[in-house]
Amino acid sequence: MCGIVGYIGHQQADDLLLTGLKRLEYRGYDSAGLAIVDGDELVVRKQSGKVSALVDSVTNVRVRGTLGVGHTRWATHGFPNDQNAHPHTSADGSFALVHNGIIENYATLRKQLQEKGYTFASETDTEVLVHLIDDVRKAMNLDLPEALSHALSRVVGTYGIAIVSAEDPDLLLAARNGSPLLLGINENEYFIASDASALIEHTRQVVYLNDGEMAVVRRGGYEVRTIGNEPLQKEVHQLEWEMEQIEKQGFEHFMLKEIMEQPKALEDCMRGRVRASEGRVVLGGLLDVMDQLQRADRIIIAACGTSWHSALVGEYLIEEFARVPVEVEYASEFRYRNPILRENDVVIVISQSGETADTLAAVREAKQQGVLTLGICNVVGSTIARETDAGVYLHIGPEIGVASTKAFTAQVLVLAMLAMRLAEGRTLSQAEIAHNLHAISAIPEKVQAVLDQSETIKQMAKVYRYASNFLYLGRGYNFPVALEGALKLKEISYIHAEGYPAAEMKHGPIALIDRFMPVVFTALKDRTYDKIISNIEEVVAREGSVIAVTDEPNGELDRLCEYVIRIPRTEEFLSPLLTSIPLQLLSYHIAVMRGCNVDQPRNLAKSVTVE
Ligand code: AGP
Repeated sequence: MCGIVGYIGHQQADDLLLTGLKRLEYRGYDSAGLAIVDGDELVVRKQSGKVSALVDSVTNVRVRGTLGVGHTRWATHGFPNDQNAHPHTSADGSFALVHNGIIENYATLRKQLQEKGYTFASETDTEVLVHLIDDVRKAMNLDLPEALSHALSRVVGTYGIAIVSAEDPDLLLAARNGSPLLLGINENEYFIASDASALIEHTRQVVYLNDGEMAVVRRGGYEVRTIGNEPLQKEVHQLEWEMEQIEKQGFEHFMLKEIMEQPKALEDCMRGRVRASEGRVVLGGLLDVMDQLQRADRIIIAACGTSWHSALVGEYLIEEFARVPVEVEYASEFRYRNPILRENDVVIVISQSGETADTLAAVREAKQQGVLTLGICNVVGSTIARETDAGVYLHIGPEIGVASTKAFTAQVLVLAMLAMRLAEGRTLSQAEIAHNLHAISAIPEKVQAVLDQSETIKQMAKVYRYASNFLYLGRGYNFPVALEGALKLKEISYIHAEGYPAAEMKHGPIALIDRFMPVVFTALKDRTYDKIISNIEEVVAREGSVIAVTDEPNGELDRLCEYVIRIPRTEEFLSPLLTSIPLQLLSYHIAVMRGCNVDQPRNLAKSVTVE
């Protein structure tokens, strides 16, 4: 959840680290800090608040040096104040450490260290690591890499760590267990980062660290070892993202940019895969496992948050078209309830970041039980993408806004393509598949038509911005859209919102409806349209204010609803790709009007790498 960046090379480290932290701020943003080795001195600057506050303080009095580490924090232990901000330094001030993750046995270690005379300046679990390394180093007379390796053997928990020391101004150390870290390689300079966005303007060449690995980086070269000190040969990968993809490019927020780029994102996602004229789908990442997947007796999809909502759409899609039973699980629950998996089950996980700890744990549980695991991820080279047996990338470029938007629609698109692929030669004729693929190909243009209504939706947002509660209702494919619409609104505007299957309203939520309750319906002219109209009537009868998203052309809804948003017609199974868009825009405009920080909502972080 936190962001880590480290540098060793020939350039001044402060600018590089601060730019890196700015890029990583979507990972955590309650405090920030850096440590730079200046000659034989270690200079630490850190403070609560956004990276911009740190930038101001460092710009006023620059810190010289070509070796350093930086951190942007999402608090797990202790308040987001100056003391708890990273880096944390050893008692003698000789080395500094930044950490992402949670040290689970920190209380025991802290007690042991206190008994040895160590005092603690913060409430963090991270400071335990610093003193532990220091203690091991002194007691066993070890150099820093050896001390790190020994100390980590006593640690239970997750970590991505970067360390610099004034005693060795030629050394940048990093270690990983459960929290992402990569090493960027350039001519005579190296970077450590928790996320590729901090590296991309400097280098495309990266080495991904795996759990249980550490990197010992010097100005003249690097080595990767296991934490137990076994040398490793690591492959160097090439990053695919472009610089402009991590810039706002004139948009006020990343979230708006990402909403608006959905037509292109969806086109990129289906490019080369949807072969409408041939009536087939090609998913290159699944070629090797397709036979096994086709034989699946059951598919389990595990995910969190927005990705869990797309998984629910996937359940409808795969069951309808491929007739394979699907179960959708919260990844966090899946692992801890001792799930029953059988030989011909397949576990699919969905994760934009590919780093979500709960989802990764679900992959490991499934692998341990010996079933095929597939990943639907956006971030190429992410841990989940690497640990699953096979998978499909979204290929939509980085998603920086903390509230997921384009990843949701792309995940749904991948699931629709997967459903068609699974139906091939089994449950659908080639003509039926061709028909559906033509409908898929037409989606980006239809998404654009919905986006073109942004200004109208902004006017609606003016009316609803002071609401305290919202209800979102939909049926069938649009029930998960209702959940997603509610999640979007609460995440970025802090308005309480709930999503339900529309028919469930009468079983409880109807009690909430009065004239202060806006209710957002998706009311498409499909097999449940009449039922939805009855639900709308029930809300109107109780003075609720209805916003409807519909493809109904005749104005029937205008009589009942306060606002009607019209979207182009598409096949029912593709409707989430269109109905979710106005809900994203509504949340966005309301949040902006309420003065909320849309890209970095309070208490959230882009990628939840702790359990
Ligand atoms: C979405 O808006 C959220 N910020 C969050 O629910 C997110 O979808 C969830 O944490 C899962 O992330 P992942 O897709 O990267 O695994």
